[in-house]
Amino acid sequence: MKEKLEALRVKALGELETLETPKELEEFRVRLLGKKGEVTELLRGMGALPAEERPKMGQLINQLRSELEAALSEREKNITTLLKEKRLKEETLDVTLPGTKKKEGGLHPLNIVLNDLIDIFQSMGFDVVDGPEVETEHYCFEALNVPKDHPARDMQDTFYLAENLLLRTQTSAAQARTMEQRKPPIRMICPGRVFRADEVDATHSPVFHQVEGLVVDKGITLCDLKGVLEQFAHEIYGPETQVKFRPSFFPFTEPSVEVDVTCSECGGKGCRVCKGTGWIEILGAGMVHPRVLAGCGIDPEEYTGFAFGIGLDRLTTTRYKISDIRLLFENDQRFLEQF
Ligand code: DAH
Repeated sequence: MKEKLEALRVKALGELETLETPKELEEFRVRLLGKKGEVTELLRGMGALPAEERPKMGQLINQLRSELEAALSEREKNITTLLKEKRLKEETLDVTLPGTKKKEGGLHPLNIVLNDLIDIFQSMGFDVVDGPEVETEHYCFEALNVPKDHPARDMQDTFYLAENLLLRTQTSAAQARTMEQRKPPIRMICPGRVFRADEVDATHSPVFHQVEGLVVDKGITLCDLKGVLEQFAHEIYGPETQVKFRPSFFPFTEPSVEVDVTCSECGGKGCRVCKGTGWIEILGAGMVHPRVLAGCGIDPEEYTGFAFGIGLDRLTTTRYKISDIRLLFENDQRFLEQF
């Protein structure tokens, strides 16, 4: 019996050293010291011993029991430290490693130019208004002196969404909305997307951008229009750029002009970009038609005004020498990263 006890002791202590998880330890405890464990069984088996041996044996078995219990809790402590060390090792962080770089975003070239343009007009006292892209025929055409069946509607192939509801073909729609809502003096610009059923090519896109401008006050003349737009062109293209006002026609202005600047590509000598003319057209403008003023509730006898519509895409392509307008809409990162 004594040898049996010793063998069990050696075996158990040896095994204990190999255990590595709390679960294994618990299984070990149950198997040896539990209710039906090997050590407990030994105690039970004592009945078969001669009476005089029993106290001695009992003592030995209990000794073994306490020894194993102590070893078990010792091992438990070790395992906890081992597990902790292992975890700490796995979780180590090398703070000297280079971090992962976040890619920096940037502004789209159209927004860069638009921001400049807003700065220029804000410094001249204009504020920025917003208008809806889905418009009614009224604001896009009728209020701008373009009645139904007027040939000017053919100039702008319109995307209709429903009877009387369309994608605005020009930011001019914001003029009428503004004049209805505010009383003079008015000085505003309205940048935004416009839509026309155009074939796509290097200079045309069914979606493009305009910046509308409107000034209404007492005593506004064509001289104010010229002064403001010349100032604008010089700030965008530089003071050496020449600005030309050409007579033109728009239903909502009288008189109407178109404004050209010397080609930034060739400096006015004539090249492919300006089709040999030396000039680039950047906007349409004019004195607000009295009928438009009156239609929006502003007395044309008391007030006059001028308006303009700048082609933002053209401004951007000429400034950055971008040869194809489609590049502005494709969101190719290799293109966009250049700005
Ligand atoms: N809306 C015109 C266009 O899309 C541009 C324009 C011309 C706007 C004259 C105006 C203006 O406000 O007065 O071609």
